[in-house]
Amino acid sequence: MKYSSQRIAYLFFATSMLLLSLQIIYGFVMAFAHMGYDVLHPAIAFNTARATHTNLLVVWLLSGFMGAAYYIIPEESERELWSPRLAVVQWAALVVVGVTAIIGFHFNWWEGRKFLEIPRPLDYLVVVDVLAFLLNIVMTAWKAPRLSTTSIVLIGGLTSAALLYLPGMITFANQVRDSYFRWWVVHLWVEGVWELIMGSILSYLLIKLTGVDREVIEKWLYIIVGLTFLSGILGTGHHYYWIGTPKYWLAVGGVFSALEPLAFLGMAIYSVAMMRKGGRRHPNKVALAWTVGCGIMSFVGAGFLGFAHTIPGVNKWTHGTLVTAMHGHLAFWGAYAMIVLAVIAYAMPQLTGRTLYKGWMPEWAFWTSNIGMIAMTGAFAVAGVAQVYLERKSGLDFLAVQKELEVHFLGLVLAATLFTVGITLYIIIFIRHGLPQLSAVGAGDARADATDEASN
Ligand code: HEM
Ligand code: HEM
Ligand SMILES: [Fe+2]
Repeated sequence: MKYSSQRIAYLFFATSMLLLSLQIIYGFVMAFAHMGYDVLHPAIAFNTARATHTNLLVVWLLSGFMGAAYYIIPEESERELWSPRLAVVQWAALVVVGVTAIIGFHFNWWEGRKFLEIPRPLDYLVVVDVLAFLLNIVMTAWKAPRLSTTSIVLIGGLTSAALLYLPGMITFANQVRDSYFRWWVVHLWVEGVWELIMGSILSYLLIKLTGVDREVIEKWLYIIVGLTFLSGILGTGHHYYWIGTPKYWLAVGGVFSALEPLAFLGMAIYSVAMMRKGGRRHPNKVALAWTVGCGIMSFVGAGFLGFAHTIPGVNKWTHGTLVTAMHGHLAFWGAYAMIVLAVIAYAMPQLTGRTLYKGWMPEWAFWTSNIGMIAMTGAFAVAGVAQVYLERKSGLDFLAVQKELEVHFLGLVLAATLFTVGITLYIIIFIRHGLPQLSAVGAGDARADATDEASN
């Protein structure tokens, strides 16, 4: 690392690792419930487990994005962070809000709107916390001698994500309106502004790991940003098909959401092309695997599997079935989990000065988690398609169908076990890196390159 304040990123990365572990535990609780073993029901009902699973996901990803910003912005701005002290306070506040919300869910303290379950009083604390984070990042960039495209897109993405949290905080008595604006948060996050965050982190990592000229990499970033806005904004319509909005949304949503895979295809081609172009290969090969893997898997999970159910003629059958869970898992994994795991895999050796990216473990962590997640997606797909045929086409009762699907969740548990092995290896490596070291300040990539020359 170049600046000592980049060490703050570690707090956020460690939080991500902890929350990811918890998220997986709740995933298993639900998988067993689907298999017919809902033994924890009196303590953790399915809806509690589901809200906890998905909110933990959002919080560990946000924590990862914040850590990434605290690592990347000082370096791109060529100066220390504006206020490291504020960053620590902001981290502590994030943890307090997150823990309170998760405990609250177990006592039925929540809003009951999928993905936006956090109770309203805590929403205000989230807003204050995010404002403190943005202030720190913006001030750091403001005082910088120059501003790179990568930082502009990253800050733009983070600021827009904060603004788009607000429509979810408006209270409506009308269910249609409530649902309409809920999608401004959920859809416009993952298929809009989070793509900017992902694209800019991808660009930063590709600059560092492939050695391709910044000008070339950042030019591509503009194209991805353009494609995202072109398709993603009106693509929101794919959530308006059946909620009571006017009929024209069927056409608008169908056409524009069908274009959305282009932005993800762009990310995939972008990362593979830059990897192939890069002459100076960085020794941290596994970080490059996570980076390029993110480009590819986001296309498969979000682009390809999103397209699979986005046309109204298909969605009228698949809406609200396990087909959504199939797509939701691989999309979140490929795009956002993998970009966070990529930036952590790159930053940890830089923060601690320990080059633990060699040997079998990092590679196994990458492959087993990815193969496990692809297999999980397959299990959800089989269960989802069976559900569509039995419930929607044959007209069987919902609960009778759930009984028929139990066997597929054995498949899910097996796949999830493989996935968990991969994540466990990843976390073991994370822990073995230890804490950030002041002695690693100023080393930057030069040190990594020197290690590379020595080891090759
Ligand atoms: C051991 C690993 C995991 C297991 C066993 C698991 C299992 C499940 C189950 C059973 C559901 C509920 C499906 C339903 O509504 O009936 C679910 C929901 C969900 N999980 Fe996981 N999960 C795991 C890991 C993950 C990871 C790593 C991610 C993200 C990268 C993720 C993202 C999601 C999302 C987004 C939903 C909500 C999907 C929707 O809205 O339909 N899960 N998970
Ligand atoms: C990384 C980007 C993406 C992520 C993380 C993601 C995740 C999700 C999640 C979690 C849901 C369930 C939401 C809910 O019911 O509350 C969902 C629904 C949906 N997604 Fe995506 N998605 C992404 C990109 C896409 C793209 C590019 C398309 C289209 C090409 C798409 C098409 C859909 C459709 C049609 C639904 C509604 C499913 C239903 O009717 O139940 N998604 N997505
Ligand atoms: Fe969407």
